[in-house]
Amino acid sequence: MRNLNTMLIMVLCVNLFALNAQHEISKSTYVLQNIESRDKESLDGLWQVIIDPLENGFYNLWLDPHKGKKAFFKNSKMKNKSDLIEYNFDTDYQLMVPGDWNTQMEKLYYYEGTIWYKKTFDFIEKFDEKSFLYFEAVNYEAKVYLNGELLGQHKGGYTPFQFNVSGKLKEKDNHLIVKVDNKRKREAIPTINTDWWNYGGITRSVHLINVPNNHIVDYGINFIKNKKNNIQGWVTLSNKNNNDVIIEIPELNKKFSIVASNGFASFEFRAKPELWSPKNPKLYKLNIKSSTDSISDDIGFRTIETSGYEILLNGKPIFLKGISIHEEAPFKTGRVTSEEECKVLLNWAKDLGCNYVRLAHYPHSETMVRLADKMGLLVWSEIPVYWTVLFENPDTYKSAETQLTEMVARDKNRASIILWGIANETPEGDSRLDFLSRLAKRVKLLDKTRLVTAASNTHNSGNKVKLIEDQLGNYVDVLGINSYCGWYGGSPESCSKWQWRNLYNKPIIISEVGGGALQGLHGDPGERWTEEYQNAVYVNNIEMMRNIDFLAGVSPWILMDFRSHRRHLRRIQKDFNRKGLISEKGLKKKAFFTLKEFYLSENNY
Ligand code: GCU
Repeated sequence: MRNLNTMLIMVLCVNLFALNAQHEISKSTYVLQNIESRDKESLDGLWQVIIDPLENGFYNLWLDPHKGKKAFFKNSKMKNKSDLIEYNFDTDYQLMVPGDWNTQMEKLYYYEGTIWYKKTFDFIEKFDEKSFLYFEAVNYEAKVYLNGELLGQHKGGYTPFQFNVSGKLKEKDNHLIVKVDNKRKREAIPTINTDWWNYGGITRSVHLINVPNNHIVDYGINFIKNKKNNIQGWVTLSNKNNNDVIIEIPELNKKFSIVASNGFASFEFRAKPELWSPKNPKLYKLNIKSSTDSISDDIGFRTIETSGYEILLNGKPIFLKGISIHEEAPFKTGRVTSEEECKVLLNWAKDLGCNYVRLAHYPHSETMVRLADKMGLLVWSEIPVYWTVLFENPDTYKSAETQLTEMVARDKNRASIILWGIANETPEGDSRLDFLSRLAKRVKLLDKTRLVTAASNTHNSGNKVKLIEDQLGNYVDVLGINSYCGWYGGSPESCSKWQWRNLYNKPIIISEVGGGALQGLHGDPGERWTEEYQNAVYVNNIEMMRNIDFLAGVSPWILMDFRSHRRHLRRIQKDFNRKGLISEKGLKKKAFFTLKEFYLSENNY
């Protein structure tokens, strides 16, 4: 009997540890969970901007930061006609927020540097409320000033951040100024070399969020370590005094009260929800109410785990029929800025017969991930630890870990996400392995309920054998392999003859495979850049994949052509990576239908 009690106490402790770990982590991200459900004012629209390549608005000629009226964040105005003020937001250019600047203004197409943004707004203070300025994403570094005062800064182009502006807002003419700098830096995440366009700007929406003084900050809910029918969760409140919290899931006939102490409350209950899956993306309304605040969210319940070479969704093996996607807007190009554009991309993936998407190479918008929840698409979400980052640099690691924490904190309640990706094609070596193994441990601390992965390269060994032996395989749950047989080596026809050997008893996903074609260019399958050549790459790689018995999924590169500085061939690429199965104008290429046929022939999920 004593042993049983000991066991029960241990299980309880493990669960509480897991809950507290998540709770601790949520405190470190300082952003409100689920802004969709909050009372907010949009600050989107036209902002006044000043293009400032030499950062004159920040530094004087001795490169010291300005202190007085020359600093652009002071928004100085001439007091008399002899005043010398060499800037004026109100007579300068305008840019749309959200949006990258590169595709809004011809002169900014290649621009990498600082642009100052200014928005003026009025504010009506409400009794017993707090206000937060919430940025969904700014690429790459943001310094944020309100009425001339620095609120703070953020680095990382794809995750949200916020500032508490309670008591700092005036009734009239608040000026919010943001210094945005998208210069690539060797020590940053990503580093200076990427195969996607360095779109700069306030690339996602900005909100002024008003919440009750004592408000619900964050929460998490999921199955207890993949045990179906045992649901656990937690809620954090802004105020530490005790507070009754009501948890309700009407469709499960669940409604109960818990008591928060020191601003934290956890819960656990048994229920038999319909399991979320691509074929049945069932979402339940979750209502959380405290004495002063309430929030609702749409939650899917599912389990995800591995068993040998298999990925198990809700306890059953699933083959991930996927496609990789960059956050490139269909038709207009540039950064995706609307739910409509997200829908186009994910509907193309559904049309392709996908049950999974790799959202490369950085966290996409919350809108995109919430749509994947609704549409039933499993998601690989990743941080841009891409190629040759500075693995020895502690600041580089800190940036990667911060972006990882921000990604997990924002999306921890999204059923669609099953894989957290921590790296892509990073050159092997001791410092890289140390860097990535630390990230893998970190993400397990953040979230025990999902799988950790990374995309690496294969080693060609001997004649026609692809060896999967990257030591990173020891630290992830699923190993992604980028393999470009028929494009970056070998003829398309040679691919079907490749054998694969996996040194790990773990699932492998071919996280990238494919080749380029200019949509509408036709010729014989031996002619590079024709749709026929790209199609031959797919036909032969599909034949190769059919013979890999440990393969758990594939996300070919890539759904749609996307802009990249690395793609120069004028007549063919014109600054676009042409490996899309669809052109940026929305025109499908021959290989789209070949991959679709393969997916439709795969008789599962
Ligand atoms: C790499 C990389 C992608 C890149 C692709 C390509 O595998 O992961 O980001 O776009 O190859 O060369 O097209």
